Amino acid sequence: MDLAMQSGFGNEFATEALPGALPPGRNSPQKVPYGLYAEQFSGTAFTVPRAEARRSWLYRIRPSAGHGAFRPIDQGLLCGPLAPPTPNRLRWDPLPIPEDPTDFVAGLTTIGATAAGEALSGVTIHLYRANRSMERVFMDSDGELLLVPEQGRLLLATECGRLVVAPGQIAVIPVGMKFRVELPDGTARGYVAENHGAALRLPDLGPIGANGLANPRDFRSPVAWYEDRDEPCELVQKYLGQLWATTLGHSPLDVVAWHGNNAPYVYDTRDFMAINTVSFDHPDPSIFTVLTSPGAAAGVANMDFVIFPPRWMVAEATFRPPWFHRNVMNECMGLIHGVYDGKAQGFAPGGVSLHPRLSGHGPDAATTERAIAAELAPHKLEGTLAFMFETSQVIRPSAFAMAAPQLQPSYDACWDGLPKRFTGAP
Ligand SMILES: [Fe+2]
Repeated sequence: MDLAMQSGFGNEFATEALPGALPPGRNSPQKVPYGLYAEQFSGTAFTVPRAEARRSWLYRIRPSAGHGAFRPIDQGLLCGPLAPPTPNRLRWDPLPIPEDPTDFVAGLTTIGATAAGEALSGVTIHLYRANRSMERVFMDSDGELLLVPEQGRLLLATECGRLVVAPGQIAVIPVGMKFRVELPDGTARGYVAENHGAALRLPDLGPIGANGLANPRDFRSPVAWYEDRDEPCELVQKYLGQLWATTLGHSPLDVVAWHGNNAPYVYDTRDFMAINTVSFDHPDPSIFTVLTSPGAAAGVANMDFVIFPPRWMVAEATFRPPWFHRNVMNECMGLIHGVYDGKAQGFAPGGVSLHPRLSGHGPDAATTERAIAAELAPHKLEGTLAFMFETSQVIRPSAFAMAAPQLQPSYDACWDGLPKRFTGAP
């Protein structure tokens, strides 16, 4: 599926699905072309510094204000109770795609969160599992959504237009944007980071310079597209961790033209320019940061999105797998395909691991043995894509996740086989 897109990160885009639908020179003219309504869609407070501001002007068939009361609806496994915090390292096998009819919203399954749903802070981590295209429309008032597909493409029909995101790619939907998820491949499974903090953006590059990691030109946002459908449409809203719904008499995906920088985007991780050592040792994994949501303290992210893509390994005299470490940040990892270079087994595509703050972790025993014995010729890690949501706040697993049969009871054992190597001699 090839959709027209526009390139760039955070650009002031301007796009119209009908010629002349964008009002010239005024955001809110007395009369909008085609009899449209003007509506500002703010993703940040009005008065944030200009570089932080996210807002778009939407020119739509009906203003969003026209709806009846929302009523609470069943929300399945979304934002259920959290389990008590645990310092233990946790890992899950993939959760199956349901057999009962399940759309993207119904299949959202919360794995963990830095705070209860009503607290609206930090990050909430979900899996999605779906076998039906949505007929309803969803908006998340609680956070920006970072979607990381693992199986099956998603067609995201949003207020700003349509995007397709496939495994190996990611999509980000601004907080509060209405969208519908369709499944071109019939089923889909993947990961969601619901970011309650500052909007994701590209990290600063410091001494790396003007290019590298994820380049702005490789982010793509949709061109304007709309539905003019006067038939009942359920609009579901996530609000402080609860799902609510109301029925509209029309499709809310009725934006004929828009301009601004508060828009969804898609990014292909194959466009990521990985940087790594060409001498010895490892840079920290922050070198693989695609997007970051900064926190209050400089350099301490509310959330980083980090990938471990295919890349050459050339370090000399170096233990090449990800080193043993204890990290004051909290790590939630997922796997899209292939084998993660830190684990010989047990970490499957669609699975999840949680390594809480300062927990010791690193390569498993089999990987360690192999790495110590390896001939250090240059070699390329291929056919693999793992990723990490890294947060400054502790991720509390959900009660559902702690009770799920996919929780591996003996994850700790993957480090059991590390022998004592100390000989007392150099
Ligand atoms: Fe780690």
